[in-house]
Amino acid sequence: MTEVCKVDPLEPDRIIIRKAAEIIKKGGLVAFPTETVYGLGADALNRGAVRRIYAAKGRPVDNPLIVHVADKDQIYRLAKKIPKQAEDLIRKFFPGPITIVLEKNEVVPDETTAGLHTVAIRMPSHRIALALIKESGTPIAAPSANKAGRPSPTKAQHVVEDLNGEVDLIIDGGATEVGLESTVIDLTVKPPQILRPGGITIEMLREVCGRFRIHPAVSHQMSEKEVAKSPGMKYRHYAPKASLTVIVGKEDDVQGKIAELIRHFNSKGLKIGVATTTDKKYRTDYLENLGESKEEIARSLFDVFRKFDNAGVDVILAEGVDEEGLGLAIMNRLKKASGYKIIEV
Ligand code: TXA
Ligand code: MG
Repeated sequence: MTEVCKVDPLEPDRIIIRKAAEIIKKGGLVAFPTETVYGLGADALNRGAVRRIYAAKGRPVDNPLIVHVADKDQIYRLAKKIPKQAEDLIRKFFPGPITIVLEKNEVVPDETTAGLHTVAIRMPSHRIALALIKESGTPIAAPSANKAGRPSPTKAQHVVEDLNGEVDLIIDGGATEVGLESTVIDLTVKPPQILRPGGITIEMLREVCGRFRIHPAVSHQMSEKEVAKSPGMKYRHYAPKASLTVIVGKEDDVQGKIAELIRHFNSKGLKIGVATTTDKKYRTDYLENLGESKEEIARSLFDVFRKFDNAGVDVILAEGVDEEGLGLAIMNRLKKASGYKIIEV
């Protein structure tokens, strides 16, 4: 059994933070909240510690980790050069839900970057995360604290479900604010490329950065031949155990289609979960409203996936959203989690 320590997210208890930092310094694993999702942290500069992250998650070793920092000096130690665009993004969005990919310095071990010559860097805004990084005195490598392929954890309980006994300490700071992982932008290519949409939206980036591209895999399934720039892209992600289908289109049409699918799956005797983004009621025992605003939908999406799994649902039908603002990140997760089972009506 892993110890779970409750910590006030606004005023983190120094004693617990110190205890967690001792674990990090000794090469152990600590799960902690960030403003996006919970992370599974280890000393980013300690090869052995980083290897333990991969083992605990069951993560493929060719999928690099994000290195979390608490101040700008740490960025300069990790990255070889910081282009002007990076400076601009750091000034505007750090700390916050965005990760920048830069050329790496030698101090960063190959284990952390999966052998790449680049390193992904993020400064979380969550007080517990910042306090832990500072107290540890080292940058912290942290993927989302779920078993590989599962929905990212937005509550400490989700971490317990996936990693109990495999991590040395779990810091429970309550539910995370954003609910989806950070935006990942690669600044080692020209123009910069968005590898994963997240809390900082394309619209927000446009105001700061000049030109950039969005990796095609953000919205579309990659063909076998396409080589992913972000190695993580080739794996199925965020997925509930149940088979998920996403339905997008005009509200009435979406509701008609879902009602039809419910009848179809009912006739096969399957348990059906429906995740709505409207207040529409459907004929099923497993109905979850994700919320009305995109912020609410982002915050509750992974929790709802896990609720359906715990209820033993066989199929999930989810109402989609448009891809403006945070909608791009929501639809990206829904597409990947469903294995691109999208019905457009
Ligand atoms: O919000 C977040 O980013 C959370 C919290 C814990 O900070 N972390 C997170 O980590 O989502 P993870 O490991 O689940 O996702 C990291 C993503 C992966 O898609 C990985 O392939 C990509 O970032 N990545 C990491 N290093 C990279 C690099 N050097 N070049 C390109 N992509 C990289
Ligand atoms: Mg992840």
